[in-house]
Amino acid sequence: METISIVIYICILLSTLFSYPLIKKQKKKHERLVKLPPGSMGWPLIGETLQLYSQDPEVFFTAKQKRYGEIFKSHILGCPCVMLASPEAARFVLVSHAHLFRPTYPKSKEKMIGPSALFFHQGSYHSHLRKLVQSSLSPETIRKLAPDIEAIAISALDSWASGQVVNSFHEMKKFSFDVGILSIFGRLDDKYREKLKENYSIVDKGYNSFPTNIPGTPYAKALEARKRLSEIVNEIICEREEKKLLDKDLLGYLMNFKDERGQVLTKDQIADNIIGVLFAAQDTTASLLTWILKYLHDDRILLEAVKAEQKTIYEVNDGGKRPLTWSQTRKMPLTYRVILESFRMASIISFTFREAVVDVEYKGYLIPKGWKVMPLFRNIHHNPEFFPDPQNFDPSRFKVAPKPNTFMPFGKGEHSCPGNELAKLETLILIHHLLTKFKWEVVGSQNGIQYGPFPVPQRGLPAKFWKESKHDV
Ligand code: HEM
Repeated sequence: METISIVIYICILLSTLFSYPLIKKQKKKHERLVKLPPGSMGWPLIGETLQLYSQDPEVFFTAKQKRYGEIFKSHILGCPCVMLASPEAARFVLVSHAHLFRPTYPKSKEKMIGPSALFFHQGSYHSHLRKLVQSSLSPETIRKLAPDIEAIAISALDSWASGQVVNSFHEMKKFSFDVGILSIFGRLDDKYREKLKENYSIVDKGYNSFPTNIPGTPYAKALEARKRLSEIVNEIICEREEKKLLDKDLLGYLMNFKDERGQVLTKDQIADNIIGVLFAAQDTTASLLTWILKYLHDDRILLEAVKAEQKTIYEVNDGGKRPLTWSQTRKMPLTYRVILESFRMASIISFTFREAVVDVEYKGYLIPKGWKVMPLFRNIHHNPEFFPDPQNFDPSRFKVAPKPNTFMPFGKGEHSCPGNELAKLETLILIHHLLTKFKWEVVGSQNGIQYGPFPVPQRGLPAKFWKESKHDV
């Protein structure tokens, strides 16, 4: 018996040894047949990170696309990656072959947002959470939030209208934070809101700093504040449990969830998803709103036309005495086109990251397993083939729907943005009140872009706001 086993063992060993070069040869042959995309990998270790981050990223991506075409390789932030600048390639990665790619974020960012947040996951955990987030942000749910969003917008605008110069981006961040809190917790007690705001702003400051846990550094402070955020969310959960409150907001959906096996979400899972949604909601919307301020400010004829559209609604509402209705927000065609064109022009999410989970072949090129894959939304949005004269801000181009997969401000596929309706609603409401009652003037010449990491007009677009008087009209 023992001799038979030894013979079998030797046979397996020999066959493995002999077949190894064959397997290697076949793999080599596969690699020769399917080659890596063109491009350069830059310096050892740092790759092309400096080239990308030392200039406007658009210059880097556009130069690469011109030189190598719509698919090219590079090496950034310590990772080899393939960048894709065509609508078909973006669809391939995000929709039709999404199962071959997984979401990927630097570990330090994952830790800061919360590892159980839905962005980092795939499969059943992701789809369960996504359904909950989508339900809490569906048009049927958010239409009920319109009056509260309106109150937040009016109070924000009143606070800017002191004649002092304000940092528009910072002010827009406060506004989008308050709307985010509303959509997650409904009407939240002021004491919780203030504590969340205070700690979230510490997280925000440390999020993009060097990830070191040395006490006193912005990153270490942010991690501490992040812990406190979880504790505050837990306090709110306990209070709701004690009072047996069954609110139909995101927190309510998360607290009441049970999977098919009766499993509920842990408090950490709930907190990570709440902080995750707040994070996804704030800077994105604030950046869009700041760009809209700039685009309208720079085109007086367009500004007057949008103003006329909004004033008509204002008059129907008895000079603003009656609140804006949900259906009125659905009938602002010019304002809506300005929003779409701002999404295209500013391309706030310039690209996203995935990682290949297996070797993938795309159009004769190999995307090796473990490589990062980046669909470049901004390059697609600025491609003259899909958007003629792309550097010109022209909302009328959206009178005709863009070609399929050429316009993806909210991404595509199973990770696309569930907050898109809310982002548009709060933007429409803020624009309505801004244009019907206020005026603003940008301070200094503002033509640069600042990346932090979202593109924002330089220095956050300093501006003065004031209430329009009868003489101004
Ligand atoms: C101007 C505003 C916004 C823009 C441009 C934007 C853009 C995006 C994009 C491009 C993605 C997909 C990222 C990827 O595929 O890797 C995304 C995902 C996401 N967004 Fe937004 N977003 C905005 C506002 C919001 C708001 C207001 C919320 C919530 C209240 C929100 C919640 C989320 C969440 C939770 C995800 C992750 C979805 C998932 O992984 O399944 N976003 N967003």
